[in-house]
Amino acid sequence: MLPSVKVQVSRYQDCEIGHKGFILEPYVTSMQLSCNYTSAKTNKNVQKLPSLPVPKLTDTLGKYLLTVKPFLSDEEYARTTSLVRDFEKGTGQQLQLLLEKRAQEHLNWLEDWWLNTAYLEYRDPVVVYSSPGLVFPFRKFQTQNDQLKYAAKTLLAALSYKSLIDNDKIPVEMMGKNPLDMAQYKKVFGTCRLPFAKRDKLSFNNSKHVTVIHNNHIFHVDLWGDDGVMLDEEQIVQQLKKVMELSSVPNKQGIGILTSENRDAWAKAYELLCKDKTNSESLADVEKSIVVLCLDEAVNLWKYEDSNARRNLAGAQTIHGGGSQSNGGNPDGVTGLTYEHSPAEGQPIAVLTDFIIKYIEENKAPEVSSKSPKQPQLLKFNVSPEVNKMIEDAKKNLDKLVQNLQLNCFQYDKYGKNFIKSQKLSPDSYIQMAMQLAFYRLHNVPGAHYESAATRMYVGGRTETIRSCSIESIEFAKTMLNSQSSPKEKISALKSAINSHKNYTVQALQGFGVDRHLLGLKLSAIENGIEIPKLYSDPGFTRSAHMRISTSQVACKCDGFMCYGPLVADGYATCYNPRDNDINFATAAFVEHPDTDCNKYRSALEQSLQEMHDVLLKNVPSKL
Ligand code: COA
Repeated sequence: MLPSVKVQVSRYQDCEIGHKGFILEPYVTSMQLSCNYTSAKTNKNVQKLPSLPVPKLTDTLGKYLLTVKPFLSDEEYARTTSLVRDFEKGTGQQLQLLLEKRAQEHLNWLEDWWLNTAYLEYRDPVVVYSSPGLVFPFRKFQTQNDQLKYAAKTLLAALSYKSLIDNDKIPVEMMGKNPLDMAQYKKVFGTCRLPFAKRDKLSFNNSKHVTVIHNNHIFHVDLWGDDGVMLDEEQIVQQLKKVMELSSVPNKQGIGILTSENRDAWAKAYELLCKDKTNSESLADVEKSIVVLCLDEAVNLWKYEDSNARRNLAGAQTIHGGGSQSNGGNPDGVTGLTYEHSPAEGQPIAVLTDFIIKYIEENKAPEVSSKSPKQPQLLKFNVSPEVNKMIEDAKKNLDKLVQNLQLNCFQYDKYGKNFIKSQKLSPDSYIQMAMQLAFYRLHNVPGAHYESAATRMYVGGRTETIRSCSIESIEFAKTMLNSQSSPKEKISALKSAINSHKNYTVQALQGFGVDRHLLGLKLSAIENGIEIPKLYSDPGFTRSAHMRISTSQVACKCDGFMCYGPLVADGYATCYNPRDNDINFATAAFVEHPDTDCNKYRSALEQSLQEMHDVLLKNVPSKL
């Protein structure tokens, strides 16, 4: 079997033991932020960006009613409408005022709330449910030395990128004429998510070492020598070789697997571990490190001739490591990374991936070498019988989760963005509508559909939900699936659905979607002891927010892709990387749900993309 390498940035966990991010890249850096970083007005708005607006109540509710319509009968819709009108005239106004007050007191009224509700208070395991995997283009390693060289290059690339981040040299990204908030980049390295009961904490660190995991043994590896000079590639290879020598016998008590547990379970184990001084020092060492590098067992990627089968295997390795008997305690056999989602969206990680791949291809190397590298240190842990029992439970739970996750990662190679643009259509909206059609084709009911839109034009901006399921998307699906529809009708329905999606996207990017505003109103109620309005338990809300299709565009230039698990038990995840002439998809579903099947979803998606292409060409010849 060929050895392979995985770099994790914030993988498994969020940190703690062992999992921080990239698999191959190590390091974290500079963030002097405290755990309790906030967007309160006292904080600096370095880029002088505008604040996230609070949309007008009437505007949001009007939009909301449009998005719930596909999920309700006429009678239900009439009831929901009347509920919304009552809310608009009553409690809604009170909550709106509270939210506007909060917005005056914070640079970004949503930032802390979002961090807590979407991430730190979320109790499901970060594995599958929160931490995405990002698969790098495949590599073949012939020898262990190849693997270690690649790992060393990845670390150097990551350090080089970190240095650009630290020195504010990353070019400010733009959306049209608007600069985007670059703060997420500063949180990529060195961020550790610590488990606590009810709500985790983030720890931001800047150090000079990485954590390396091999065979479930955890090491501190300094990337700078005693002389303060960074190690060169060969010196890092030597460090990694030493790590492998010292850990040739697998550690059966690997505590890393605890990080794949439900957050409260991991918090309990973490608390117990920390009672012992040796453990708390070792955990602190991992917490401070720049990234975690996992040198995993090979998974025999190349036994598959079909490149999509390799994609599946690689995706699984970056999401969960394959379970307790594979690389679940210390992943993988493929190159890629896993990152802790709470401090940053996927896009900065995709940019970093392109940087690493280019760095490696260009074979860059530091010009100086340290004269006095330090030796890797094995981090010691005293595992009590109680913690040992927790490790055994974690293994079982992870194995169950792994068994339950069905992945289908593939490259759609018939066309990509270029064809869609040649039809004068938005590639993102087009792909989203292909998913709507695929879902309807399989299930014959509207699929509530989440897409992330970046709100980084605002200070501290994260995302807004694009509700991709619309009256128009359902009309489009029905028209496409109706054998009586003419090509003209199909094209017209397609364009109308795309326009509707694009229109929502533009509003979401400006912070004028439905979901974050409604969340803000609900949290205003909770914080002020006001009863949660009925609107939030109404079928219009619950059905339209039960996101059966959970999607993100994560675009990188290289042939990589990001993957993660579904949001709901009967849902699909779809992360996609649209490139000029192909689209990389990573889809996921839960095996135990009888209604979903990823393989069928993939076929339906491919069929939808093909039919949309063909119908367009019946009208306007492609220039391709
Ligand atoms: N005709 C021709 N070309 C068009 C077009 C049309 N009608 N509409 C759009 N295009 C072009 C665009 O100009 C753009 O060109 P470029 O490749 O030269 O830049 C390209 O097609 C892509 O545009 P489009 O597909 O419409 O949207 P997008 O790439 O801007 O993506 C979002 C839209 C919502 C995905 C994006 O704005 C966003 O928010 N991304 C971040 C999502 C995120 O947070 N993901 C991570 C979650 S963890």
